[in-house]
Amino acid sequence: MAKKASGAKSAPGVNGRAYEFIDHYHDVVVVGAGGSGLRATLGMAEQGLKTACVTKVFPTRSHTVAAQGGIAASLTNMGEDCWQWHMYDTVKGSDWLGDVDAMQYLAMEAPAAVYELEHYGVPFSRTEDGKIYQRPFGGHMQNYGDGPPVQRTCAAADRTGHAILHTLYGQSLRHNAEFYIEYFALDLMMDKNGVCTGLIAWNLDDGNIHRFNAKMVVLATGGYGRAYFSATSAHTCTGDGNGMIARAGLPLQDMEFVQFHPTGIYGAGTLITEGARGEGGYLVNSEGERFMERYAPSAKDLASRDVVSRCMTLEIREGRGVGQGQDHIFLHLDHLDPAVLAQRLPGISESAKIFAGVEVTRQPIPVLPTVHYNMGGVPTNYWGEVLNPTAKDPDRVSPGLMAVGEAGCASVHGANRLGSNSLIDLVVFGRAAGIRAGEVIDREASIPEPDEKVSDEIMARFDATRYADGSVSTAKLRDTMQRAMQEDAAVFRTEETLKAGCKRMDEVWKGLSDIKVHDRSMVWNSDLVETLELQNLAICAITTVYSAEARKESRGAHAREDFPDRDDKNWREHTLAKVDAKGKVKLSYRPVHTELLAEGIDLAKIAPKARVY
Ligand code: FUM
Repeated sequence: MAKKASGAKSAPGVNGRAYEFIDHYHDVVVVGAGGSGLRATLGMAEQGLKTACVTKVFPTRSHTVAAQGGIAASLTNMGEDCWQWHMYDTVKGSDWLGDVDAMQYLAMEAPAAVYELEHYGVPFSRTEDGKIYQRPFGGHMQNYGDGPPVQRTCAAADRTGHAILHTLYGQSLRHNAEFYIEYFALDLMMDKNGVCTGLIAWNLDDGNIHRFNAKMVVLATGGYGRAYFSATSAHTCTGDGNGMIARAGLPLQDMEFVQFHPTGIYGAGTLITEGARGEGGYLVNSEGERFMERYAPSAKDLASRDVVSRCMTLEIREGRGVGQGQDHIFLHLDHLDPAVLAQRLPGISESAKIFAGVEVTRQPIPVLPTVHYNMGGVPTNYWGEVLNPTAKDPDRVSPGLMAVGEAGCASVHGANRLGSNSLIDLVVFGRAAGIRAGEVIDREASIPEPDEKVSDEIMARFDATRYADGSVSTAKLRDTMQRAMQEDAAVFRTEETLKAGCKRMDEVWKGLSDIKVHDRSMVWNSDLVETLELQNLAICAITTVYSAEARKESRGAHAREDFPDRDDKNWREHTLAKVDAKGKVKLSYRPVHTELLAEGIDLAKIAPKARVY
């Protein structure tokens, strides 16, 4: 449908080769087929917009499939709750950096979004009386944080992401969305007025180059966990949308806020869901002490993730780590009823066996804080429209462009995301993007024709990378970057480590122009894919470390030992980072949204205060 093998070719690139284009015309092109990409695709297609979804992996292999513990919504199936408490917890979890309008939208829309998933067919676990099962999760409390923990996280055992992803893919197909599977998006096509008119992608399967011309592009490309050495993220989480945004001259927001999940399996990095602690699991140090009781007397092991990860790191630093190297912590589930483990946590019981050789009914799981989520990304409003802020207009919209899910920064998670607020973010904001696109897309207008000069520039970069003939392998340079990020932009940070990190990333950036790609072919060339991914990762990594170096305070996941306190007076603002082709990072800032979206909660209730659990 709407496909034209126009015979158009790019100008010969630096190596004298021209690339033939296959042109497509759609109202909307969504890039990425994880939870947010599929929810956006479905929403657009439902409204009759001609929608394509371009994805580098088969939809049900997207990283959402790995989400375990659940999706937050105040359904009240298992105790008292309300959207106001959920909003409060999200505001507090964000350490008062989240945008209030976006956080309110999330909490208010969450129950309807979960019921919608139920009606689409998501096989949620059930209570005795047939309602959706909900478990406690870190940082989710009753009574505006006073506690006790609330059962708010709706779960399909510990395979919630898997269940959601498969259901949304089926629904998208039902509404005739077109899928372009195993296509790698190279770059956005931006016209001279800064309007996005589509993107160019490479079909990995047959080597053809496709131009997707569209009225709206939605980036749903996920996070960039693989900028780090140890991450729960799939190897495909390489910040491809962030890379495209930066190359289009647009800023990335709040990149310094990188979440470490407390319980990655020691060594392997595989996720052990927070749902394990929600079901009653607890952490111990080498003295057998349940140390979280000391740090967070109220929430204990269910304090928010940044807090638990820091406490574990402190225990290890102070010599109370477990194992031969005293360099990790034990998670106990062996006191739980084996029937509960089999019913509620079958997936992680299996992961513990495979990746740690541990039988959870008898032995503790060795765990370590592991990179898990990027709070930062492409700045958007709560409709998912990408922002290109100016000093005068910090909320200026960049036309033709949206971003949702982990790639986007609405900013609903601020400086730290609460567990199970990610899956709900994907569906609430994926759905919102569909609604907004239905309002702003002019169905009568013609789809923009491609600009040959813009196309040539994109293909010249591709061609130069394909024939790169330097002296460093992609794997080597990626390893150098991952180790630098792991060591210097870690759970705890100082001026010294961050400055060292900036320097190391400057060297990595230089290394990009000395890279050697060994395989020049166009069909399933994983060497070239990984090199293009490394270019995207390097953009994410360098903006992360420079933004972190500049932020002289501690907030959420950004813990500066030299600036241990939150500083609302000077730093309650979003970082914007642009990076140019030479790797020079330019920082600016935009204000946090502090106004409510609607009535129903007193602003005084969510005013900044000390964050204790
Ligand atoms: O622990 C988990 O199941 C992860 C959930 C999340 O990141 O939201």
